[in-house]
Amino acid sequence: MYVCICNALCERDVRRAIRDGASRPRDVYAGCGCNAQCGCCTATILHLIRSDAAPSPLARTVQQ
Ligand code: FES
Repeated sequence: MYVCICNALCERDVRRAIRDGASRPRDVYAGCGCNAQCGCCTATILHLIRSDAAPSPLARTVQQ
């Protein structure tokens, strides 16, 4: 699924950048070798960053 149409970034590209340390949308763009254009994808990228940072439900279950 494409997340950023302007830069042809798919969800896999964004998640890879997050795994490589991107913690802000601008870091994701930089990690993918591009820059924000229209900015329409920023909220989606932020959601992916936050969802990757949150512990998974399975991890919470194991910790209990
Ligand atoms: S859709 Fe990502 S910058 Fe336009």
